[in-house]
Amino acid sequence: MVKAVVAGAAGGIGQPLSLLLKTCPLITELALYDVVNSLGVAADLSHISTPAKVTGYLPPDDGGKKAMKDADIIVIPAGIPRKPGMTRDDLFNINAGIVKGLIEIIAEVAPKAYILIISNPVNSTVPIAAEVLKAKGVFNAQRLFGVTTLDIVRAETFIAEVSGNKSVQSINIPVIGGHSGETIVPLFSQAKPSFSVDDEKLAALVNRVQFGGDEVVKAKDGAGSATLSMAYAGFRFAEKVLKAMNGEKGIVEPSFVYLQGVPGGEEIYKATGCEFFSVPIELGTNGAEKALNPLTNLTDKEQTLLKACTEALGGHIKKGVTFANSAPPQK
Ligand code: 2OP
Repeated sequence: MVKAVVAGAAGGIGQPLSLLLKTCPLITELALYDVVNSLGVAADLSHISTPAKVTGYLPPDDGGKKAMKDADIIVIPAGIPRKPGMTRDDLFNINAGIVKGLIEIIAEVAPKAYILIISNPVNSTVPIAAEVLKAKGVFNAQRLFGVTTLDIVRAETFIAEVSGNKSVQSINIPVIGGHSGETIVPLFSQAKPSFSVDDEKLAALVNRVQFGGDEVVKAKDGAGSATLSMAYAGFRFAEKVLKAMNGEKGIVEPSFVYLQGVPGGEEIYKATGCEFFSVPIELGTNGAEKALNPLTNLTDKEQTLLKACTEALGGHIKKGVTFANSAPPQK
């Protein structure tokens, strides 16, 4: 029996993400929570002939607690999206409180759940979650993940476009660091299969991965940010976590984790000075079983990108930690 929850299920990411999770045979119960429209989304999805039993919850009558009670995996896309000209950090004031409130509920009713955070700014919302869980005495770094998969998905897609590789799904590329602008560090030198382009094209590729989200925000022209590709990415990561929970071996995917709480993470923490960082993670029945160090063979250009990343990321992490320890409990 596997209970999955989507917190923020009626939103632009939440709906397609819930649909994808409903198609996953590993899930037996899918609880959808949101502040509006979650009952309608649940009724709609409940007609799909796959095993997961779908239920919907709203905030009244402790709906959040009921939705998340004893969940095995909780994916959180809740919050507001960007409008043109905004950075992910501009969302902090609203989304920080939303994530804090959800994590307070999870700490109480599903302290062992795997928590996958999509809500932006991920570089700060994941540290918020960790602090809340620590304060409640239930923090397990091996079960808290910031979803950075969309950066990997974009890197795979853009490499395929530039190199003419027709089998995009065979491409593997680590994207490390955080999930915003210059904190996103694609390691094209470690791409498999390897490929080579001139320096100008490489710089353009790096920039496109770092600011790919802005392309979508601009094209949507005020109607939000990436929702469908983000839902795909969130599902791809959730499915890998579920398969690993189910005993499948050899699953590795980058994710934004608390390094010192994951085996292998300490040396990456020492090298970057960042407590939270996205690196390839070996997933297993205990969640994040090993952080794989991708920093040993970086090119000079990647070293420069890494420096810019760590300088900015430290501030984003601190902002989250400070918020978590100063904001009153959310309702
Ligand atoms: C993006 O990268 C929404 O953060 C998401 O587009």
